[in-house]
Amino acid sequence: MTDADIAQLRTEFQQELARVASESDLQAIRDKYLGRKSGAVTALMKAVSTAPADLKPVLGKLANELKQELEALLAEKKALLGASKAPVGAVDISLPGRTPPIGHQHPLTIVREQIEGIFTRMGYQVLEGPEVEDDYHNFEALNMPAEHPARDMQDTLYLDGEIPGQGRPATLLRTHTSPMQIRYMETHQPPVRIIVPGKVYRRDDLDLTHTPMFQQVEGLVVGERITLADLKGTLTTFLHELFENRTQVLFRPSFFPYTEPSVEVFIGCVFCGAKGCPVCKRTGWLEILGSGMVHPRVFEAVGYDPERYTGFAFGVGIERVALLKYGVDDIRLFYENDLRFLEQFPL
Ligand code: DAH
Repeated sequence: MTDADIAQLRTEFQQELARVASESDLQAIRDKYLGRKSGAVTALMKAVSTAPADLKPVLGKLANELKQELEALLAEKKALLGASKAPVGAVDISLPGRTPPIGHQHPLTIVREQIEGIFTRMGYQVLEGPEVEDDYHNFEALNMPAEHPARDMQDTLYLDGEIPGQGRPATLLRTHTSPMQIRYMETHQPPVRIIVPGKVYRRDDLDLTHTPMFQQVEGLVVGERITLADLKGTLTTFLHELFENRTQVLFRPSFFPYTEPSVEVFIGCVFCGAKGCPVCKRTGWLEILGSGMVHPRVFEAVGYDPERYTGFAFGVGIERVALLKYGVDDIRLFYENDLRFLEQFPL
C-alpha cells in the first residue's frame, strides 16, 4: 500500500461521484468507498494498520485525510441533489407553458375575407343588404317581371304577405345578392364600385353540392365607358389572386335577365390541372361565377340613364370557391361544425 494507491482511489471516487444523479446512486457510492464492511477506504485504513512501523504515521494521515475528503464531497453532493428537487407545490418556472387552445377561422370566413381583401385593394366598397327582400328588388327590378321564366331558375322561399292583385307573397328570403345592386343604385349616383357579401336562400334539399342557405358575393361597377374588357380584366385579376396566378380563366356567353351580354366564367379544373376528370365532367373547366354587362332595363328601373352609363356585375358563390380551393367534396361539411374538420383551417 503506497501513497500512489491512495491517490488512485481518490481519482476513481471523483469520477464516479461525477456520474451520481440520484439519492440511490449516492448511497451506492457511499457503500462502495466508506461502507463499514467492504468499503474501499475502510479496507485502506485496515491496510495502514499492518504497514511497516516507519510508514504508518504518514500513510495513516493520508488515509484519514482521504476519508474526511470523501465524506465532505458526499455531503456536498447530497445537498446538491436535494436542492434540485422542487418543494411540494412549487411552480417550475423552467417548464414550457401550456398552449391555451385557440379557435380557428371558419373556411367560409377565410374565403369571404380574402375576396373582400382583393376587391378592397381595387377600390371597391364592401356593403351588406337585407336577407328578407321583396319581390320587386329580388326579381322585378332585375328584369324578371311576374311570370318571367327566369324566376324558375331559382326556387324561392316566400314569407308572409301578398302582392296586391297578384296572389304572390310580397316578401321572400333573397335568392341571390343581386337585389343589393338595385338598392344601392336607388340611393347612389355613379360611379359605383361595390361588392356585397351575404347569405342567400333557396328551396333546395341538402346534398353534396346544395344547402338551402349559402353565401354569395355580388359585385357591381357602373360608370361612363365601362366595357366588357373591364369585366374581363377585373375578373381575371380577381381569379388570379384568389386561386393561383397561373389559373386559366375562360369566358363563355351565357344568359341572365339582368345582364346583356351575359358571361359565365370558368377556371381551369383545380383537381386535374385542366386535363379532364370526373369533377369537371372531363371538360377541364369549372364554372366559378356568373357575370355580364348591366342590362339597360336595370338602369331604367333605378333611374340611371342607360345612354350615359354602362357597367358590369357579377356573382360568386363563397361555398363553391371554398370547395374548389380546399378540395372539399361535400358542402355540408361547412355547416356541420365538426371540429375535426374546422380545426384544419387555415390550410
Ligand atoms: N345572381 C346570380 C346567381 O345567383 C349570379 C349572378 C350572375 C350575379 C350574373 C350577377 C350577374 O350580378 O351579373 O346565380
